[in-house]
Amino acid sequence: MNSKIIKSCIKGIHGYVPEYILSNAELEKLVETSDEWITTRTGIKERRILKGEGRGTSVIGTKCVKGLLKKTNTNPKDIDLLICATVTPDMFFPSTANIISNNVGIKNAYSFDMSAACSGFLYSLVTGSQFIESGTHKKVVVVGADKMSSIVDFEDRNNCVLFGDGGGAVLLEPSSDENGIIDHILKSDGSGGSYLCIKGGGSKYPASLETINNKDHFIYQEGKRVFKFAVTNMANVSEEIMLKNNLKSNDISYLVPHQANKRIIDATAKKMGIGDKKVLMNIEKYGNTTAGTIPLCLWDFEKKLKKGDNLILSAFGGGFTWGSVYLKWSYNS
Ligand code: ACO
Repeated sequence: MNSKIIKSCIKGIHGYVPEYILSNAELEKLVETSDEWITTRTGIKERRILKGEGRGTSVIGTKCVKGLLKKTNTNPKDIDLLICATVTPDMFFPSTANIISNNVGIKNAYSFDMSAACSGFLYSLVTGSQFIESGTHKKVVVVGADKMSSIVDFEDRNNCVLFGDGGGAVLLEPSSDENGIIDHILKSDGSGGSYLCIKGGGSKYPASLETINNKDHFIYQEGKRVFKFAVTNMANVSEEIMLKNNLKSNDISYLVPHQANKRIIDATAKKMGIGDKKVLMNIEKYGNTTAGTIPLCLWDFEKKLKKGDNLILSAFGGGFTWGSVYLKWSYNS
């Protein structure tokens, strides 16, 4: 038996956003809204949309993983496992993870999807890490990707301004030093499920003329109520992981938050006692890409990250689901 403690670390990251930019100005033409309202309430200026018939989340995931394998000089045949966090799978089944693996030549692995809405990437990162830590897996790919435009009603101003399409992928391997994924706190509370969901299309209310007429295949969100839960829980769990690991605000290099709303991010940073400079944010460019936000953010700011930096990754999403991951960044790019 191997008694050595194995730690998992992120060896590389790659992201992808579609070319098409949907600006606040264009949304002003679709629904009764304004750039001013969207910017002050959310911090979002524009988001990306994956155009073209028959193109699902696997298009985004495939670009992310192809880029990741190239960048890290990894042979797809050496990957042991691929997990894809998404709430917008191409189909119910096969899993989007399996489609991505097939597209990029990952042949000696098994693949599965993980559904935890905006916390999906953190849930998958922790799950993937534990396969590495168990000593049974050497190379795990974790993808967070969503085509939110496929479940957004572009006549509903409450929701269509918030979401966008995009994603990112990381390669996990055993760490060779003290850096890597140190700790996590993941939580869920099913009593919040009805405040943020898609009612139709599942086994409870299969697709019918009625579900279509009721617009039950689009995101339903009670924004104000979700906002209250998100502010409290994302801030609390971020503080909790700091306390658990005896981290003071000065010890934190960066907070990498789920990008749903700038006000939720600001409240989280305040609770952690860290200033704006330590908060990585790209919500203005991409909006809320659900499972995509955290890897997209790491990818956007990759050059800024230095080996040994203390990062706190935090998210809140539908379910409700939320959590934080504490990691020490593993490489200089
Ligand atoms: N443009 C103009 N006015 C709007 C728009 C819009 N796009 N959308 C709503 N309004 C109106 C509302 O109708 C309301 O009008 P009324 O007072 O006449 O009824 C008014 O603006 C105020 O609406 P509020 O809901 O009070 O606005 P709020 O300050 O709460 O901001 C928002 C709304 C941005 C949705 C916020 O509640 C929020 O961010 N919620 C949390 C979202 C989130 O974090 N979700 C979790 C992750 S998502 C996932 O897991 C898939």
